[in-house]
Amino acid sequence: MHLTLESSTTLHTGITIPLLGLGVFKASDGAETEDAVRDALAAGYRHVDTAMIYGNEASVGAALRASALPREAVFVTTKLWNTDQGYERAMRACDKSLEALGLDQLDLYLIHWPVEGSRQETWRAMEALLAAGKTRAIGVSNYMQQHLEELESYASVLPTVNQIELSPYNYLFRKPTVDWCASRNIVVEAYSPLTKGMKLREKRLLEIAAEYGKSTAQILIRWGLQMGFVVLPKSTTPERIAENADVYGFELSDADMARLEKLNENLVTGWDPTDAP
Ligand SMILES: NC(=O)c1ccc[n+]([C@@H]2O[C@H](COP(=O)([O-])OP(=O)(O)OC[C@H]3O[C@@H](n4cnc5c(N)ncnc54)[C@H](OP(=O)(O)O)[C@@H]3O)[C@@H](O)[C@H]2O)c1
Repeated sequence: MHLTLESSTTLHTGITIPLLGLGVFKASDGAETEDAVRDALAAGYRHVDTAMIYGNEASVGAALRASALPREAVFVTTKLWNTDQGYERAMRACDKSLEALGLDQLDLYLIHWPVEGSRQETWRAMEALLAAGKTRAIGVSNYMQQHLEELESYASVLPTVNQIELSPYNYLFRKPTVDWCASRNIVVEAYSPLTKGMKLREKRLLEIAAEYGKSTAQILIRWGLQMGFVVLPKSTTPERIAENADVYGFELSDADMARLEKLNENLVTGWDPTDAP
């Protein structure tokens, strides 16, 4: 599989999305986020994943403006928080995020969590935001199969993307959702691809990393890319930002992809949407 730092995939609405993106969850507003985005752009990342609730949209925007890159060179995702669900609130929330980011248009706007009761109205707003050109693409996050099936019953436009927690430590757990997305041509984005750091020193993963002469973080990112996911590692450490983008000079064998899949332990590092109504 020939992958490069410039590799992208095409969403079902026709726009392209870079496969590697910088996550900025827990990066504080101000210098920490601005520096991380600057370092990532310098290292070749062309995709940033933020959210209103991360509180750092303004810093992401400032870093984008400070770079010499044209707007269209960087793919920007943000997310609608739970308290902004419902048609009118969602419409306003998008405007607030655009204002915070200092952008006229998002590349991708996601419903952050499947909040019971307001999902349909919120999706109607997402479709309206797409039609109004406030965002180039719309999608969801933390949607499991039951939420996706419900959405399909009323959506005029299906999500282009579903962003869920994914690493070898939980892929088999999430496989039904991943397969459902594949059946509808919905791109799957892997969040917490580094298990929030929890498994980076795990013995079996260290063994595979040693065999390739790579770090465990690089193995996890490469696994996600070879699985066909958009992968969103977070770091605010310059060396790690560069390391996490240096995953292209090698390829995991089919046998090692299978070894990695065996690491599954249904790991969930954040809130678990599995049985969310
Ligand atoms: N949609 C959602 O509900 C949702 C939920 C969670 C995350 N996300 C998205 O996914 C992104 C990534 O997930 P995440 O932030 O939960 O966790 P993650 O990317 O799995 O792990 C981040 C942690 O790993 C450390 N790290 C990064 N690179 C490393 C390396 N090469 N070697 C050793 N440690 C390394 C980071 O430390 P330093 O920063 O100190 O380097 C940080 O502590 C988020 O930032 C966000 O954009 C979305």
